[in-house]
Amino acid sequence: MSESVPVALQLAWFVATVSFVVGLRRLSSPPKARTGIWIAGFGMVLAIVSMFFHPELRDNLPLIIVAMTLGGGLALLHAKRVDMTRIPQMIALYNALGGVAAAGIAMLVLLHVSEYGPAVKSLAVLGGLIGCIAFAGSFFAFLRLRGHFSRRDGFAKRQVAYLANGALVLLLGLILATSATAHPVLLLLFIALAITFGLLMTLPTSAADMPVLISLYNALTGLAVAFDGYVLENPAMMVAGTIVFAAGSLLTRLMARAVNRRLSEIMYSGFGLADGEQARTEDRDHVNTIDARDAAVDMAYAGRVIIVPGYGMATAQAQHKLRELTQLLDERGVETGFAIHPVAGRMPGHMNVLLAEAGVPYEKIHDLSDINTEFSQVDVVLVVGANDIVNPAARDNPESPLFGMPVLDVDRSRRVIVLKRGDGTGYAGVENALLFAPVTRVLFGDARDSVQDLIMAIKGLD
Ligand code: TAP
Repeated sequence: MSESVPVALQLAWFVATVSFVVGLRRLSSPPKARTGIWIAGFGMVLAIVSMFFHPELRDNLPLIIVAMTLGGGLALLHAKRVDMTRIPQMIALYNALGGVAAAGIAMLVLLHVSEYGPAVKSLAVLGGLIGCIAFAGSFFAFLRLRGHFSRRDGFAKRQVAYLANGALVLLLGLILATSATAHPVLLLLFIALAITFGLLMTLPTSAADMPVLISLYNALTGLAVAFDGYVLENPAMMVAGTIVFAAGSLLTRLMARAVNRRLSEIMYSGFGLADGEQARTEDRDHVNTIDARDAAVDMAYAGRVIIVPGYGMATAQAQHKLRELTQLLDERGVETGFAIHPVAGRMPGHMNVLLAEAGVPYEKIHDLSDINTEFSQVDVVLVVGANDIVNPAARDNPESPLFGMPVLDVDRSRRVIVLKRGDGTGYAGVENALLFAPVTRVLFGDARDSVQDLIMAIKGLD
């Protein structure tokens, strides 16, 4: 952008930038997270509104308003209607849109490449490349999560095609960054190859492991936006993009660690579970069941009870009842706590947010790494709509597709009570060996109703 930017606008970008940093900082603590979201949101509104006063955008204001009204309206309608089970798909789709927007900005710069210096051209090439990869990968992830395409749609020599594609797109990028003019055919070829690269990267990843890859694409979109910010000389974009990149990279690393995979495996060889190939292989009639009264007796006379929430707690919205249950047990002198697996539920921090919303004290919530060695001293573990994260096959059975993923070792406790509705396997579509363990009893029913029955039964003991 050549016209000078007014001081008021620069000041607004500065305030927006500080808001992003302060907002993100507050997100690291659950009690402050809500205000963190508001502060970062304020920064984002300020960054967007301030652009309306940019001297170079004056002519395009009507177009921008139409685009924002259409995009914002559709997103609002969609976000209101989407149910909890479809959140990963929604994130993948919106991330694809972010990637394509970042790539679009970079491509416009490359179309007018003669007006820019080598540094800007190089960053535009990188922004375009990364934006296209994030778009294609996220969109493919969205389709995979919606049930289109399976992992078996891969093909022989994928890795050769992947590497050759990568080398070719880098070569084209180099040509574009060093040319005085960009031939439109060259640019189109560059876009097509960058998109194919994103598709090849996502192709071998199963639906169960897709969250790690989506988080990686989210980080990449941030990086593309940061490069675009440099190209457009917009500090708010630079900072927002860099923050998304940094936070997304950390989250990707944490999630990859939580399922015990390396980032190189994600990006090159593909990894993870088959798409539901092993579902429902065991005879469900052989699980030991329990009724609410017997389960209540086990818990009420225990020394220590640990609750393991999973995706089923979220669908049943059982968190408030669980807090009531722990209060009741605490009053009886039972030590209670919650054990949280890093990928429990369908979003990072999913369980923590729901438990915080229900008013469960933070000191009752324990991470996998803190509590996993203690299960042998726990009298009763109440598994509330969790499956993959407590499957001992991940630890004991090298044949299991889950093998290697750290799980909560609940089967080492004295009694495990599992709340579930029926014969559903978890997200990975893999049979849960915990259901057939000698210590396990299953209480069938919706988690909220079952917890309510437990509360009534414990109250009835007095
Ligand atoms: P899942 O493995 O999905 O198991 C959920 C269990 O809840 C199922 O056994 C289901 O059995 C039961 N259930 C569902 N609705 C219920 C209800 N209303 N009442 C009682 N039970 C109910 O969940 P998990 O153990 O939390 O594991 C999470 C999985 O999701 C992991 O594989 C993880 O990789 C994946 N994932 C995680 C994320 C993030 S970032 N956290 C994102 C996407 C995917 P019934 O149907 O028989 O009731």
